[in-house]
Amino acid sequence: MTSHVLLSISGLHKAFGGLIAVNQMQFDICEGEIIGLLGPNGSGKTTVINLISGALSPNDGKVVLDGKDITNLPAHKISHAGIARTFQLVRILPDLDCIENIEAGLAYRTKPLWGHDAHTAAYELLERIGLEKHAHTPAGDLTYIDQKRLELGRALALQPKLLLLDEWLAGLNPSELQDGITLVRKLKHEGLTIIMVEHVMDAIRSLCDRCVVMNAGAKIADGSPDAVLSDGEVIRAYLGDSHA
Ligand SMILES: Nc1ncnc2c1ncn2[C@@H]1O[C@H](COP(=O)(O)OP(=O)(O)O)[C@@H](O)[C@H]1O
Ligand SMILES: [Mg+2]
Repeated sequence: MTSHVLLSISGLHKAFGGLIAVNQMQFDICEGEIIGLLGPNGSGKTTVINLISGALSPNDGKVVLDGKDITNLPAHKISHAGIARTFQLVRILPDLDCIENIEAGLAYRTKPLWGHDAHTAAYELLERIGLEKHAHTPAGDLTYIDQKRLELGRALALQPKLLLLDEWLAGLNPSELQDGITLVRKLKHEGLTIIMVEHVMDAIRSLCDRCVVMNAGAKIADGSPDAVLSDGEVIRAYLGDSHA
């Protein structure tokens, strides 16, 4: 199997005042891979997602997408280069219905879609994420999982090569979780490359090809889900030293 590196981050560093949130982070992700970005609360996962997506600029280090240096590009240029994300706290337009929410996303494509084309493409996207029944439901009236589906749909509207999911499966009940896992697996089969920040172990084990684990801003493990989840340093990071 040939593996093409889609994203490579190296030497990534971000401080907020005296706090080093991300410290010399590096990893590669190959096309078609799903990697889990794990670590205890406050370990720097969301900051890494913010640095990759251009929501924040690093103090040092590089982000390379498909051989192109995208470090320090503004977020909209990174999105046009092929990276889309969801947020830890869902961001949708609550007063607009689902189809309008997706249409608003389609307007941010490199080649924006409008009018009839946007409507058709938006409906197809709603089918892809299982929300077509709610095309005309205001987003604010959706259940939590459906709001999450919609936010994912808005990210997919950008036709990304790389999708960044920040705790997309968090807060779902067990049956919603199975639906969520099925949807992410479907996106993988469609060829999407995904970085998912996740705490749900079932989801990590069933979806991730590889996991990168962070603690206090730095990478402490990188390997298969089984290998990293049984790694002593990873267990200590999650449980605290008293359990080691
Ligand atoms: N915009 C910010 N300003 C100041 N500190 C921040 C900011 N964003 C994150 N931090 C801090 O950086 C550390 C890493 O945060 P974060 O990346 O959100 O962790 P995680 O997603 O792993 O829980 C935390 O100590 C957090 O308080
Ligand atoms: Mg976070």
